[in-house]
Amino acid sequence: MNKINLLLLLGVVATSWAQQQQTLEKGWKFTREDKPVFSQTNYNDAKWQRVTVPHDWAIYGPFDMENDIQRTAIKQDGQKAAIEHTGRTGGLPFVGVGWYRTQFNVPELTSDKQVFIQFDGAMSNPEVFVNGQKAGEWHNGYNTFFLDITPYVKANNNTLAVRLNNLTQMSRWYPGAGLYRNVHIITKNKTHIPIWGVQITTPKVREDLAEIVIKTEYVANNPKEKLEFRTEILDPQGQKVATMHSVLVSSTSFDNTVEQTTTIKSPQLWDIGKPFLYKAVTKLYEGDTVKDEVTTTFGVRSIELKPNDGLYLNGRKIKIQGVCMHHDLGPLGAAVNESAIRRQIQIMQDMGVNAIRTSHNMPAPEYVRVADEMGMLLAVESFDEWAIPKVENGYHLYFKDWAEKDLTNLVKHYRNNPSVLMWFIGNEVEEQSVESGSQVARYLQDIIKKYDTTRPVSNGMDRPHDVLKNNMAATMQLMGFNYRPFKYKEAYRKLPQQLILGSETASTVSSRGVYKFPVERKSMAKYPDMQSSSYDVEHCGWSNLPEDDWIHQEDLPYTIGEFIWTGFDYLGEPTPYYVEWPSHSSYFGAVDLAGLPKDRFYLYRSHWNKEAETLHILPHWNWEGREGEATPIFVYTNYPFAELFINGKSQGKRSKDLSVKLEEKEQEGNPSDLNRQKRYRLMWMDTKYEPGTVKVVAYDTNGKAVAEKEICTAGKPYALRLSTEYKTALTPNSKDLAFITVEAVDKDGNLCPTVNDLVQFSVKGAGFYKAAANGDATCTDPFHLPKMHLFNGKLVMMVQAGEKAGEITIEAKSKTLKGKISVEVKK
Ligand code: GAL
Repeated sequence: MNKINLLLLLGVVATSWAQQQQTLEKGWKFTREDKPVFSQTNYNDAKWQRVTVPHDWAIYGPFDMENDIQRTAIKQDGQKAAIEHTGRTGGLPFVGVGWYRTQFNVPELTSDKQVFIQFDGAMSNPEVFVNGQKAGEWHNGYNTFFLDITPYVKANNNTLAVRLNNLTQMSRWYPGAGLYRNVHIITKNKTHIPIWGVQITTPKVREDLAEIVIKTEYVANNPKEKLEFRTEILDPQGQKVATMHSVLVSSTSFDNTVEQTTTIKSPQLWDIGKPFLYKAVTKLYEGDTVKDEVTTTFGVRSIELKPNDGLYLNGRKIKIQGVCMHHDLGPLGAAVNESAIRRQIQIMQDMGVNAIRTSHNMPAPEYVRVADEMGMLLAVESFDEWAIPKVENGYHLYFKDWAEKDLTNLVKHYRNNPSVLMWFIGNEVEEQSVESGSQVARYLQDIIKKYDTTRPVSNGMDRPHDVLKNNMAATMQLMGFNYRPFKYKEAYRKLPQQLILGSETASTVSSRGVYKFPVERKSMAKYPDMQSSSYDVEHCGWSNLPEDDWIHQEDLPYTIGEFIWTGFDYLGEPTPYYVEWPSHSSYFGAVDLAGLPKDRFYLYRSHWNKEAETLHILPHWNWEGREGEATPIFVYTNYPFAELFINGKSQGKRSKDLSVKLEEKEQEGNPSDLNRQKRYRLMWMDTKYEPGTVKVVAYDTNGKAVAEKEICTAGKPYALRLSTEYKTALTPNSKDLAFITVEAVDKDGNLCPTVNDLVQFSVKGAGFYKAAANGDATCTDPFHLPKMHLFNGKLVMMVQAGEKAGEITIEAKSKTLKGKISVEVKK
């Protein structure tokens, strides 16, 4: 909605032109060739590819192990000698130069206007040319930045050219490529409120009253003119609840900032799952004319860290049940898409997640807005590298000159978003092991504090010994420890903060629907099929199983929660298969790359989601050839105990063993057994496979049978079942996506968990085929072609709405199976 419409809706009459924003989505041209003349206005781009932005040039593949092969030793993972990392950045062709060109108009342009271009993120090293002249550049591919392009712009037919340049070995994961986030043209009067010039805080929050403080920066074109600031606050229902009014003459002000304070009664607090959002509409008048109008969305809520006690949100103690997430959207690559973000957050909320760490970089504005709107907390991160390299061409190349600019933009951009709970200045940086490391940490933390004092600043540290020694841990307002929970006690004794955050935990690995025998706890286990076991017993050399973190979080009162690595699988980092091509995406997710829950999803859900019933049985029960062999059965449930039956025969009862406690004197490292697991999962280790039915009956604490669940050996594959997740209808905006799960099922509708057939799609009607994925880290089927193999019986395909209402019909066919579904597109 543009500003004028919004004003009319609110019943306010604008007296003059305020500001204008246009998002440049359609009509772009793109090429991978690099010649300097591309910046020129008269360049013939007729043969370039037509694209819509957001656009990720590399996600279309093809996958190839030579794409950014990294011959190196990963120090963090304990590698001593260089090896050939094939899929480390996803095996996709993101390296190299890409050019984008488009045209735009600024019809409102007059001599008293200023024009800005804002990139929500451009991967990477963007150089921006307007009408053949270089307007500016940036380096960090994740950050939002804007440039003043007034000197280069005219009212009509402006040519915008953007050069992006991705280097080899610039990342530890798939970064994406190109204009993968939105681009906006923003026109303002010369007297205006700068972009991100409004800061709203709620320093005092009570149930009956909240104080709202609004600081507004301004640029005055006529310093002697009287300026007036009128701000209205609208509650979540759109009712006006406060007005503020300030007058000044800019030449009398020190810092071109106006501060306004008010109170509102009975505030509707923003909280986890309760996304009450207020709006502040600030108008800047010069004399009697409105020169700018800015609407800022914010929430009323409080955050407090109480040493030796915990983290408080709105006066209520909370524990972080968090996930780390990389920025890619699986088969969509890095190209931002709101429906895919909403789906991700929805799946995580179902798992019981209340916070997401945007590891290890700045999130897209859509991500933060959606988190605000869905009541999901965020830990917003900036860097994976400071001045000392982790990868040859990483951010260290720019750190010295750009860190301050990058952090400033990040904090100013997102400091009004209520979802943002804390900031992260880094992740496992090499400076942890340098004597002066704490000085860099202090420098970065201070930059954040300059723009926002209301949120804690943290840092993901994985070298407890070093950061206790060089004071980096003591410097941080909130200490974040990556892994090694057995070090929490020592850190607590030595450090001043008296609170510990598990900033990154678990890194358990598993592949959806894959089970390995015998079932044993293992570190860095590898198999010929390049998969990891979904019994959730495998982890990395530096990491552990979910329960190793839970037991610390529950038994040590000064822990404030954790962010597991990771919520969803992501492209790149196929640990432990560093050199085994075609393995090219992660095994860490509780949910796979397609967005399908692994067993681990239900393990976390049973512990974290207090509102929902979880009663989940694993493994599947199609083990032809294992008849009579020990085939352990695990049940993940929120109920305290349960009885298991195979073909009606009881296999005995198991209860969560609450006598298992964190050992007083902990050993360094991980236990080698599954003892801690007994407190949280129900395990029948000796059950023998026989085809038929596995049934679990769960009991409550009074011994009453309250729920049951069955899985059975599936018969011959009979059909493909297509079902839509979450959403029932799409909006005709050329962006909205439907996510359709495709499953091979038998005659009775049981999943056939060993079918890996190729499925072909045909999509007709009011939308298009967009992409598909199956969660198999070794699968090199291109995501964007309308065919994909099932992985252990399942995959997810996506269709995108067109611009008109109607019906989309989707047909899926393998050699022997077929299925159909339709999705509505509604205005
Ligand atoms: C951490 C790191 C993450 C990821 C993870 C895998 O050390 O912060 O980015 O590499 O390990 O376990």
